[in-house]
Amino acid sequence: MTPGFLISFEGSEGCGKSTQIQRLRARFEALGRTVEILREPGGTVVGEHIRHLLQHTPEVTNLTPEAELLLFAASRAQLVREKIRPMLEAGHVVVLDRFLDSTTVYQGIARGLPLESVYAITRFAVGGTLPHLTLVLDMSAEAAWQRIQATGRELDRMESQPLEFFDKVRQGYLHLAVEQPDRMVVLDAAQTPEAVEAQIWKLVEERCHALQS
Ligand code: TMP
Repeated sequence: MTPGFLISFEGSEGCGKSTQIQRLRARFEALGRTVEILREPGGTVVGEHIRHLLQHTPEVTNLTPEAELLLFAASRAQLVREKIRPMLEAGHVVVLDRFLDSTTVYQGIARGLPLESVYAITRFAVGGTLPHLTLVLDMSAEAAWQRIQATGRELDRMESQPLEFFDKVRQGYLHLAVEQPDRMVVLDAAQTPEAVEAQIWKLVEERCHALQS
């Protein structure tokens, strides 16, 4: 059977993940592959409730960083077992809009929770299911900030963080990518969507050669 393949997209708000995910889906589908797109937090009934609680519940004004970490981890633990593993076993391409690196960066590096605790909880949640490839769409905190503001819609809890928070997020991703070059690749998200798409596809072809056969 064709092997399943797990790709995660990471990056700050406004970096263009959604556009690139749709373009990647189209590329894979043109090859006859089944593509499943899942988002975090969310992707399951439990996960979507957690997403709503984390992002769109105005009464949630005093969530502690520790509770936030555990809620993201709970959503992920459910997603891995309910969706990701069965889809990979069925030979599908699974594309994740955020995964474990978001927790390391947002809760660990940007919120400042102890990294060893963050890693231990994340490892427990994913239980060994790691992406084959992680694409980090990198852009300056200022540019990301401007893109968020330009949407004109009401900002959620995370989007309302100060600019310094987004800079920590960016630096966090760059740091992780240096530590894990076999899995993580940084792409300049300030390029045109076409240029980013072409680079992503080249990487996928190089790294997932077995998939094309
Ligand atoms: P998104 O819809 O832009 O992906 O929003 C998800 C938000 O949640 C985004 O601000 C990043 C944040 N987040 C974390 O802080 N930790 C996590 O583990 C995940 C998956 C997301």
